[in-house]
Amino acid sequence: MAALHYMPGFGNDFETESLPGALPQGQNSPQRCAYGLYAEQLSGSPFTAPRGINERSWLYRIRPSVKHGGRFAPARRDHWKTAPNLDDHELPIGQLRWNPTPMPKEPVNFIDGIRTMTTAGDVHGQAGMAAHVYAFNSDMVDDYFFNADGELLLVPERGRLRIFTEMGIIEVEPSEICVIPRGMMVKVAALDGEARGYICENYGAKFSLPDRGPIGANCLANPRDFKTPVAAYEDKEVPCRLHVKWCGKFYETTLDHSPLDVVAWHGNYAPYKYDLRTFSPVGAILFDHPDPSIFTVLTAPSGEEGTANVDFVIFPPRWLVAEHSFRPPWYHRNIMSEFMGLVYGQYDAKEEGFVPGGMSLHNMMLPHGPDAMGFNKASTVDLKPQRLENTLAFMFETRFPQHLTRFAAELDSLQDNYADCWKDLKKRFNGTVAGDWPEEAKNT
Ligand SMILES: [Fe+2]
Repeated sequence: MAALHYMPGFGNDFETESLPGALPQGQNSPQRCAYGLYAEQLSGSPFTAPRGINERSWLYRIRPSVKHGGRFAPARRDHWKTAPNLDDHELPIGQLRWNPTPMPKEPVNFIDGIRTMTTAGDVHGQAGMAAHVYAFNSDMVDDYFFNADGELLLVPERGRLRIFTEMGIIEVEPSEICVIPRGMMVKVAALDGEARGYICENYGAKFSLPDRGPIGANCLANPRDFKTPVAAYEDKEVPCRLHVKWCGKFYETTLDHSPLDVVAWHGNYAPYKYDLRTFSPVGAILFDHPDPSIFTVLTAPSGEEGTANVDFVIFPPRWLVAEHSFRPPWYHRNIMSEFMGLVYGQYDAKEEGFVPGGMSLHNMMLPHGPDAMGFNKASTVDLKPQRLENTLAFMFETRFPQHLTRFAAELDSLQDNYADCWKDLKKRFNGTVAGDWPEEAKNT
């Protein structure tokens, strides 16, 4: 198969055509479009949104989308939950951690392989998010899907994905992410036979790049490293099914053709991928530990400045050089709610128990921090420059409390001893300035 092509930039005004002359020049709505295509606008923001956040694309397609819907029937997809989804279980509050979700044994495709772990906010107010895991082993071939409830941020942990969207084809592997805009039709295939990962379903304002403040014009996630696909289409007339998620409910309809029929498009409402290995971290170069917001890749704002509907934050390989400092993340209580996953390796605040494909949840105002082993080691280690290798953890951090689903509360992979990771933290206070530390530790 030919190599895929992408266009660089974040939120650019892109243009692309898969047949020469398919894209109108100088206007959006010619009396008749080239190749007999239909012109259709896809609005990702209100018409009147300020220019900086106004998003729409013009799609030139074989059939208009009114031919891809109609006569929907209700459908069930019981494991994909939507906020508000309260009182779904009886598990008391607490810090929670899960082992990896088992791979399915029966054939299951991407949308049937999604399991919701938490929901937050309220989809009806376009505020909040859901954290899902996906695990599947069967390709969507004649099945298509769009989600009216929010954009989908996919974080692969195992296996490569091929995501055929209305606006082109994206392939991603672990260490990359993909964002599928709200309302965009897609089908997803597992290029390695099976795939697993995490999804943030963002009900709120779209993900954007965080302001860098005094950091300046470079570093963190740079706009040029975001990649949007060139136009690609299917001209396929076979029985197909279109599945829709709309305000938490599922519907489906049958078609006699593929809805992925966009031959050309232009605009700034489009899917994209990003390679997390191109994230340029900024951190402490003398002492102490900045807040983890320094590792924000994407932020979805709420109406309140600095208070994210959800942030997507990563903890990538990096150098630790801070002098006379406790280098791992500090102990913490937070008004925001933190859902974490691990793509590969080991996370520096947890020596054991947090493994690739696993998850943890530190909900609003519940304390968390390094486990006993991590604390003791970081408190006594010789502070040479250290390169943190083999680690890629991430966090979905939202202003809204995250409510567990019954599925998450009853998973066999839920670790009932997670809170024990702090039980061996000793009292070091003994009334002396040096505290109760071994002699050799006092000299470092
Ligand atoms: Fe935290």
